[in-house]
Amino acid sequence: MSKHQHYLWSEIHEWLRHVHRDQPEFHRELLTRASLLCEGHAGGIALDPDHSVSWIGRDLTLDKVLEWEEQGYGLLAPDAPWRCHCPAGEEFLPVMAVPYRQGEQLTLTLVLIRNAGSEPFAREDELNANRLIQEAMSTMDKNTLLEELASSNAALRQRQDEQDELIRELKQARDQLMQSEKMASIGQLAAGVAHEINNPIGYVRSNLSSLREYTESLLALNDAFAEALGEKFQSPELQSLCRSHDLEFIREDLPSLLDESRDGIERVEKIIRSLRDFSRTDTGEMESLDIHQCLNKALAVARNEIKYRATVETDFAELPAITGVDSQLGQVFLNLLVNAAQAIEEQGLITISTAHRDADHIEVRIADTGKGVDPDNLDRLFEPFFTTKPVGKGTGLGLSLSYGIVQSHQGELSVSSTPGEGTTFRVVLPVQQAASGAAE
Ligand SMILES: Nc1ncnc2c1ncn2[C@@H]1O[C@H](COP(=O)(O)OP(=O)(O)OP(=O)(O)O)[C@@H](O)[C@H]1O
Ligand SMILES: [Mg+2]
Repeated sequence: MSKHQHYLWSEIHEWLRHVHRDQPEFHRELLTRASLLCEGHAGGIALDPDHSVSWIGRDLTLDKVLEWEEQGYGLLAPDAPWRCHCPAGEEFLPVMAVPYRQGEQLTLTLVLIRNAGSEPFAREDELNANRLIQEAMSTMDKNTLLEELASSNAALRQRQDEQDELIRELKQARDQLMQSEKMASIGQLAAGVAHEINNPIGYVRSNLSSLREYTESLLALNDAFAEALGEKFQSPELQSLCRSHDLEFIREDLPSLLDESRDGIERVEKIIRSLRDFSRTDTGEMESLDIHQCLNKALAVARNEIKYRATVETDFAELPAITGVDSQLGQVFLNLLVNAAQAIEEQGLITISTAHRDADHIEVRIADTGKGVDPDNLDRLFEPFFTTKPVGKGTGLGLSLSYGIVQSHQGELSVSSTPGEGTTFRVVLPVQQAASGAAE
């Protein structure tokens, strides 16, 4: 093989690495390379059965070549693919035709022509052209197959991704369902407990105030007796009786005992109120409100809790007025802000941002750079009495109350958190309350 041919073959192999069936220029490139390899000056390719693609130069058309064939010159004869003669009367042109078959079927015929007076095509030319076609067609098949494989692989991968996404969405929906079922049954329980405690607390409260009156009367009576008895009251027997009953101490201690009991009752009543709010038995007046004003009011109330621990940044979007109970939503934001501040141990940042999520919903996010929530606890945050704060510091009712309020506004309260980095609470609220869900 000559150096030139060597070069041509390596160039052919380079070309073959990228060929595939859909390339429109494939046949033209094949013809060009065959012409270079076999030193043809013109030529064409006929695609059987309809000879639909052809390029023939030198005033010769494929029709002409086919006409010669019809006249019996056997140019495209399968058993003698190359010839070097032309019909009588035509100018002598060396012509070579190389057929390619797939199985029984003739799929392609390459025709090469040399200028008049050139050397006829030799056996070696035919072998070269044949090898070129064979390699080109089989590589093309292989490449096409590989491409089809790659694209069906990609389609499979996409289907897999879609399925994964579907499974994820299903899992999320199931978790949400479980969470709301759990909250609903806790709500019922809370309402029941609140109701049960409410009665006894009611009479303890009223008895306490009677008790205060009675003891005041008894003490006053005691003073009156003492005065009436005069000297006799100072008798050693009576004085020792007073001492043995610690009368002076009782007189001093009684008011604070009663005050403490009243405070205790008030605390219990507050808890009952929270439990009822959580289970949405409380009432509220729906009105049109500006959520930013609501946030600013909550921020003002929480200021003391926040100011030594965190800087507050706000990022308010333009929002429409929404329908809701101002005091209840204010309570939600206050709880979230106080929690955010309490989660920050040293110095941190609280970001309040709002967004118009879609035509019918707004969103408020309250994010902090506090200590975050242990992933094991994330599911339990909205349960009544769940707290990680020391006894006396937190009752664990803030979030459950907020959850109930947001639910009664047909909204969503959710949380995401990274331990050590911070926590974000997201409140989504509808702009308008659909008739059925308005807080009763
Ligand atoms: N921003 C936050 N960062 C980290 N943990 C939080 C955050 N907000 C709430 N938590 C966790 O959720 C628990 C429950 O919060 P919730 O507001 O219901 O109750 P609390 O703050 O403990 O008590 P209360 O609000 O009744 O005073 C908290 O104890 C805390 O562990
Ligand atoms: Mg709280």
